[in-house]
Amino acid sequence: MNLTITKSKKLKSKPDPSNLGFGSFFTDHMFNMDYNPDNGWQNPRIEPYSPIPMDPATMVLHYGQGVFEGLKAYRTSTGNIQLFRPMENIKRLNRSSRALCIPEMDEDFLLSALKQLVEIEKDWVPDAPETSLYIRPTIYASDPFLGVRASNTYRLFIILSPVGAYYPEGFNPIKIWVTKDYVRAVRGGVGEAKTLGNYAASLRASEEAHKNGYSQVLWLDGVEQRYLEEVGSMNIFFVIDGEIVTPSLNGSILPGITRKSVLALGKSWNMKISEKRMTIDELTLAHESGKLEEIFGTGTAAVISPVGEIKYGEKTLTIGNGRVGPLSRQFYNALTDIQYGRSEDPLGWIESVV
Ligand code: COI
Repeated sequence: MNLTITKSKKLKSKPDPSNLGFGSFFTDHMFNMDYNPDNGWQNPRIEPYSPIPMDPATMVLHYGQGVFEGLKAYRTSTGNIQLFRPMENIKRLNRSSRALCIPEMDEDFLLSALKQLVEIEKDWVPDAPETSLYIRPTIYASDPFLGVRASNTYRLFIILSPVGAYYPEGFNPIKIWVTKDYVRAVRGGVGEAKTLGNYAASLRASEEAHKNGYSQVLWLDGVEQRYLEEVGSMNIFFVIDGEIVTPSLNGSILPGITRKSVLALGKSWNMKISEKRMTIDELTLAHESGKLEEIFGTGTAAVISPVGEIKYGEKTLTIGNGRVGPLSRQFYNALTDIQYGRSEDPLGWIESVV
């Protein structure tokens, strides 16, 4: 397939790299591609970043048939640009598409298009500490139609955003809120897909958490509301009595790539680390008996995010005196050292762009 490139005539000025926040700035170009049943995925093109005019009946606006991904490009100290496990994101995009009845993409082609886009925008990869270029591939249903069915046509785009830390707290402990009133997803639904509705479904509880001074919601399972699941923008890990555990993938948890990487790193270091089904009561008991040593979240946007406090009903669990724990720091350092090329890449996770 032939990828056409149209360069922007007017380039934007770059934002201050020390003050990027997350997701507010966008680069000069984007990737676009369309699907129709006759030609399949076709017309791949890199072109100036621009708004997408839409028919008000465009299906994604009504029924949420869309999926997305999030990955990052990093600048190394020698000025090279590299990606972290990009094929994992592309494969997950296809798995999410399957769950939403969206036609799958050629994975090798999408990776090469994504790399070409990042290469064209290489000057946008920031070099301030802990900054990166966030990559957001998205697919949406584009038929203008109001009946409820899978769309016949789709648009895939990739946009790029120079980012700093996801949480304003940076690499400092965040406070999370366990909700008993709402659920994010149920098994048999689309909880393990990276699809729009899962994020929409998280907003009401997030607002409640924010109002009470907490940054994020820790979700319990949607059936019994006992089993620990995920945080919504991150997976979650607990260190209990020297053992690291994360909720096992059960169909309603997003299979995070940072989660998978932490499991692999921990195993490669011969740590006691496993996936387990665990209840909120087991967690509070572990806390009461002084065995809950650390909690941290994992995600592409957040990397490793230490958790300093959990609120569950009347109970407030302070973790590690509200300070960053040693394992959170060890995983954070190991991952970011690989991502920024400061260390070897022992598990073959890096894909260079330029
Ligand atoms: C990510 O970590 O890339 C995410 O997608 C989380 C959030 C920004 C939606």
